[in-house]
Amino acid sequence: MSYQSRIISIVCAVGEDCSIGKNNRLIWRISEDLQRFKNITWGHPILMGRKTFESIGHMLPGRENIIITRDMMFEAHGCMVAHSLEYALKVATRVEREEIFIIGGGEIFKQVLPFTDLLYLTIIHAREPDAEVFFPAYDDFQKVIFSEVHREGSLNFTYLTLERI
Ligand SMILES: NC(=O)c1ccc[n+]([C@@H]2O[C@H](COP(=O)([O-])OP(=O)(O)OC[C@H]3O[C@@H](n4cnc5c(N)ncnc54)[C@H](OP(=O)(O)O)[C@@H]3O)[C@@H](O)[C@H]2O)c1
Repeated sequence: MSYQSRIISIVCAVGEDCSIGKNNRLIWRISEDLQRFKNITWGHPILMGRKTFESIGHMLPGRENIIITRDMMFEAHGCMVAHSLEYALKVATRVEREEIFIIGGGEIFKQVLPFTDLLYLTIIHAREPDAEVFFPAYDDFQKVIFSEVHREGSLNFTYLTLERI
């Protein structure tokens, strides 16, 4: 399901146990994957929850950053602020790009998944028993568009792009 003819895509690095966060931080930092994230999202609007924004700590350049929060006083240098997911998507359509990227975190992924067209996942072949934030079940996304295995240091990971069926 698209939003006003835009493709809604999620980008996320996910452990085999669906873990994505701990202590409001990423669990794994894979430099190749961070570069890929930059390449995929560059020039596009990116939507994120307030906690993910605070975890990153600053706006990401070269992209319209849209932060979702219920806090009416919230401001962040160089970013747009939206007080609902729907308004965030509306703001994103002001950017003349056909794809809108949802970049986290767990709360936002859960709410946006029913409207999502594409998942750009990095499946990290590891688990984090102390994880606090998880990616939601994505059983409706079964069509594999792209799959490629990579390795950095001791970590094996698979870039997996999935489409809804
Ligand atoms: N592995 C990855 O690729 C990846 C990617 C992104 C994030 N993460 C990790 O995920 C964790 C953060 O995720 P999270 O689930 O704790 O938080 P989050 O989804 O980033 O942000 C949650 C916040 O978003 C706002 N919000 C959520 N739904 C809303 C709605 N419908 N309307 C208005 N505001 C709404 C609220 O902000 P207010 O409280 O301000 O109202 C809420 O507290 C961190 O550990 C981060 O590192 C991992």
